[in-house]
Amino acid sequence: MAGVLTRLTSVLMFCAASTDSFHSSQLVPESLIISSFQESLQTVDAAASRGFDPQLSHMYALSRRPASETQHLSRSAEIFHLTLGLLKEKASRRHERSLAVSELLSAEAAERIANLSGCPRALHPGTCAKDGKYRSISGVCNNRKNPLWGAANAGLARWLPAEYEDGENQPKGWNAGRRYRGFQLPLVREVSNKMVGSSSMAVPEDSSYSQMLVDWGQYIDHDISFTPQSSGRSRCLQTCSNAEPCFPVQIPKDDKLSGSKSCLPFFRSSPACVNVHAALQRQQMNSVSSFIDASSVYGSSAALEESLRNLSSAEGLLAVSGQYSDGGRPYLPSAGPSACLQEPGSGPAERVECFTAGDSRVNEILPLSVLHTLWVREHNRLAGRLARLNPRWGSEVIYQETRKIIGALHQIITMRDYVPKIMGREAFEEYIGPYSGYDESVNPSVSNVFSTAAFRFGHVTISPILRRLNESFQEHQRFSSLSLQQTFFSPWRLVREGGLDPVLRALLGRPAALQNQEHLMTEDLTQRLLVLNIPDSLDLAALNLQRGRDHGLPGYNDWRAFCGFGRVESRSDLMEVVGSGDSVQKVMDVYGHPDNIDVWLGGLLERPASGARTGPLFACLIGKQMKALREGDRFWWERPGVFSPKQRQELQTHSLSRVICDNSGVTEVPLDAFRRSSYPEDFVSCGNVPSMDLEAWRDHL
Ligand code: HEM
Ligand SMILES: *[C@@H]1O[C@H](CO)[C@@H](O)[C@H](O)[C@H]1NC(C)=O
Ligand SMILES: *[C@@H]1O[C@H](CO)[C@@H](O)[C@H](O)[C@H]1NC(C)=O
Ligand SMILES: *[C@@H]1O[C@H](CO)[C@@H](O)[C@H](O)[C@H]1NC(C)=O
Repeated sequence: MAGVLTRLTSVLMFCAASTDSFHSSQLVPESLIISSFQESLQTVDAAASRGFDPQLSHMYALSRRPASETQHLSRSAEIFHLTLGLLKEKASRRHERSLAVSELLSAEAAERIANLSGCPRALHPGTCAKDGKYRSISGVCNNRKNPLWGAANAGLARWLPAEYEDGENQPKGWNAGRRYRGFQLPLVREVSNKMVGSSSMAVPEDSSYSQMLVDWGQYIDHDISFTPQSSGRSRCLQTCSNAEPCFPVQIPKDDKLSGSKSCLPFFRSSPACVNVHAALQRQQMNSVSSFIDASSVYGSSAALEESLRNLSSAEGLLAVSGQYSDGGRPYLPSAGPSACLQEPGSGPAERVECFTAGDSRVNEILPLSVLHTLWVREHNRLAGRLARLNPRWGSEVIYQETRKIIGALHQIITMRDYVPKIMGREAFEEYIGPYSGYDESVNPSVSNVFSTAAFRFGHVTISPILRRLNESFQEHQRFSSLSLQQTFFSPWRLVREGGLDPVLRALLGRPAALQNQEHLMTEDLTQRLLVLNIPDSLDLAALNLQRGRDHGLPGYNDWRAFCGFGRVESRSDLMEVVGSGDSVQKVMDVYGHPDNIDVWLGGLLERPASGARTGPLFACLIGKQMKALREGDRFWWERPGVFSPKQRQELQTHSLSRVICDNSGVTEVPLDAFRRSSYPEDFVSCGNVPSMDLEAWRDHL
């Protein structure tokens, strides 16, 4: 036994070894293991072989399709967890009591099931090859002692243990009638209806920040995290009961949707191939590299990276569209046939297919596609200049040096310009502060609570309208304002409707929507989050809440305690952190007990500190994550040796506004793209926007 344990701990390197949760004697016979495994295999593969039916694909299925490496891992993990679930069900029936998997199986048997399922014994051999100058594409070996920290396809970090209804796998709210603190958890759709959706009120404007602040948030989130969903998706469009991997969002009786359907589809996040010898608790994965490394531009796997490059160019360029151009500037390449929406009345020959980029969610809304496009243009612009500056550099060196600069710019714009505005200066100083160097003991992996709750604060700042502006930053005469849903999956609106500029001007020249507690989220997202081909509705607020339960996230109060804040025990405690009697009343009516409040909702209800766009809890969680992404990144741009001091100085002069000046037809910008700005008084001509001098990259050898 000891031998097995040693082997296990050395090989399954990414989870803490706690094998004592296993019984040494096994309660289930071998034959049952095999038959349960076979049953699971069939279930998962039958669901997958139903394949990708475009009629059934809705925007999530489409936008949340992970790369093939991820799909393979996710299939294996699903088979693994399904097998455990079946074993547990059968054994519990036989023993007439509910048994935990850890009571049933030895560590070796669990490992054998993991083997059978195709879960690799380790995602990485455990030792890193000789070190190169550049970060790896997947993030692996950024930390040389823990090569999977921050790497694509590794598990999300758990800052607090998961809380599943059966301790291991079932989401909170899976079993009807289950009580928490004496109350049933409210249906997420009910929470969304009562606390979030609100139709008639005009969305208030943010007094300090531009629309760009919102869209950068989504863009940079996509650089940091992407939690893949289970593969057997189409099944979940046809059922309203809880059956792996479906966890449908039930529609309450008095809902405006209740006439037409009784649930909205929901696919559980894919489990990860981790933890096979720990508590056997379901864990979710991040399919992209956690680091702020411009994986949104370059991808998180070697195969995707290669497909995005222009391998026939000698200048290390990224591939661009050969079909369309934006007044001479390139668009992202596209791949078809795709499920992107088309211009009404256009024929098959005029189709504009979905764009491809380092992150597959690039087509979700127009501003996101615009930001992705800007960075590909910036890459090609810089690469061309570096090539002229260093004629002896080969294509590969130019590509990598450019990628390194682009990654640094993502870090600078995020940490210097974006994060302090979200958290507020004070919280920034408290949780992040000045850079103090690389710390190899810091795990930079994205935490489950960050991607599933805290950083989704941005969903309440989405504006229901996307304006497009002309050269004098006024409503465009030809391209009218669009409702949010008209901007979903519609690359044709860039290609055929004036390119990037009208959208970019609006991101710079229009204020962000202001979150306030009475009006948490625009109705478009709760009622009309559009589906592609099927006439269905999705509710982003409900999805966020359901996702938190799917991942077993502990409740609001546990996270308050995690951050060192007092638990909220009473209405008056709540009143203190929320500040609005009306919201307190509603949240107590809906949840019954403050401990039951879902963390996404609780975090959003907190009154933001002055100058911040998040309350104290989210400021803490976002702050801890951002600090880990900085301190735990061996290639962080400020780390001595990564860039030369001269290069660092030049990088700092650059800005998002400069990137816009250099890569679009916009000729006037505010110096800080995230500040609310009125035209013309807050704008300067691009000639007056500082720019880095690439001389610092001239190779003198
Ligand atoms: C119109 C704009 C946006 C749309 C349509 C949108 C849509 C979505 C959808 C559909 C999901 C997956 C929900 C689920 O099934 O769990 C998601 C996840 C997420 N969104 Fe947004 N979002 C938008 C803007 C934003 C913004 C502004 C932010 C942050 C500032 C943000 C942060 C996130 C995060 C962190 C996730 C989880 C990512 C992951 O790990 O998979 N989103 N969003
Ligand atoms: C799992 O597979 C590996 C080979 O990939 C093998 O060395 C190991 O012994 C297997 N474990 C069990 C318990 O079967
Ligand atoms: C690749 O680069 C060459 C110039 O070096 C250009 O002519 C070609 O169009 C580019 N191809 C793509 C797919 O971007
Ligand atoms: C922009 O549009 C406004 C009306 O919406 C118009 O008055 C103005 O002349 C336009 N500016 C330019 C440069 O076309």
